[in-house]
Amino acid sequence: MARILVTGGTGYIGSHTVVELMQQGYEVIIVDNLSNSNIDVLDGIEAIVGKRPTFENIDCTNYVDMDRLFSRYQPIDGVIHFAASKAVGESVEKPLMYYRNNIGSLVTLLELMKTYQVPNIVFSSSCTVYGQPDAQHLPVDESAPIQKALSPYGNTKQVNEDIIRDAAHADANLHATILRYFNPIGAHPSAMIGELPNGVPNNLLPFVTQTAAGLRQELKVFGDDYNTPDGSCIRDYIYVVDLAKAHVKAVERMLIVPEREQVETFNLGTGRGLSVLEIVRDFMEATGVKVPYTIVGRREGDIEQVWANPKYANEVLGWKADTPVKEVLLSAWKWEKRLRNIV
Ligand code: UD1
Repeated sequence: MARILVTGGTGYIGSHTVVELMQQGYEVIIVDNLSNSNIDVLDGIEAIVGKRPTFENIDCTNYVDMDRLFSRYQPIDGVIHFAASKAVGESVEKPLMYYRNNIGSLVTLLELMKTYQVPNIVFSSSCTVYGQPDAQHLPVDESAPIQKALSPYGNTKQVNEDIIRDAAHADANLHATILRYFNPIGAHPSAMIGELPNGVPNNLLPFVTQTAAGLRQELKVFGDDYNTPDGSCIRDYIYVVDLAKAHVKAVERMLIVPEREQVETFNLGTGRGLSVLEIVRDFMEATGVKVPYTIVGRREGDIEQVWANPKYANEVLGWKADTPVKEVLLSAWKWEKRLRNIV
């Protein structure tokens, strides 16, 4: 079975993808420097799959270490590149750290892929590249215009997409799949792996589950005066396990469809937008747990509404994100309860 190098494989989306890959029989090599994840994630993966993935504690920007890794695990059939810093606010304060980490790691990988003749990469991009799409582009498909990024983090995604296109243009052997994620939420149904936010969560769902668990006093809903039905922002929340499965489909396609385009880009979402208030309501209904919240002012840089048109991924990858949202919210709660020892 094919051998796949997964950078950032102990992270949130990475770990769920490793599980799905291993369950399909792929051999997985995880590279992660544990800068925003925990080594115990490997235990969670092992508990689900019944097998421990190979793990290397390496920083993907370290050329010498990465060279050694590529040489040691030859032949590698494909790379999934998750490893990146992802906090928007932090990227505004530490732009150079974000550019070094997020850009440096991709360049290092692409150089070594060429040296070691690894022909395929799947790259984690984000719907952040679309900014706020015009009304005529909602739901947003892959042809919607890219807009100037609002943060260094967002810019690293755009620049990395360009780097991949330029590298593929110069090298006919390189094939890439760019996956633009919408808002991943939830945890593996086993509650053995899930999201592990560092400190106070920036993202909505971890804040909701931590508030439900009593760690936070109340959720602050950032704005109810947007031009949306209930005034709160709208996003396309996608189950992380559905998202992980899209990676397996992308890898399958990379390995068995030689006639595909050199660079393919897919939006990964459900096709359905939900507001912040709908998420809070659905969470309370699904779990029976109260989430105290107040409405506060808008958060700087927030997009009013964006959701995906996932038709291209549905058709070409033969994949669909269809887990009901309440089931997804329950999985997030089950994970939070396990973390906090709540029965
Ligand atoms: C954010 C990033 C995005 C990144 C993604 C990674 C910004 C502006 N965007 O997306 O670039 O790819 O995370 O996961 O930071 N909300 C609240 N209260 C909270 C937290 C969030 O009301 O305590 C609201 C936000 O205003 C937003 C929605 O919940 O409307 C989702 O927020 P979040 O989970 O942070 O995701 P994005 O902002 O969509």
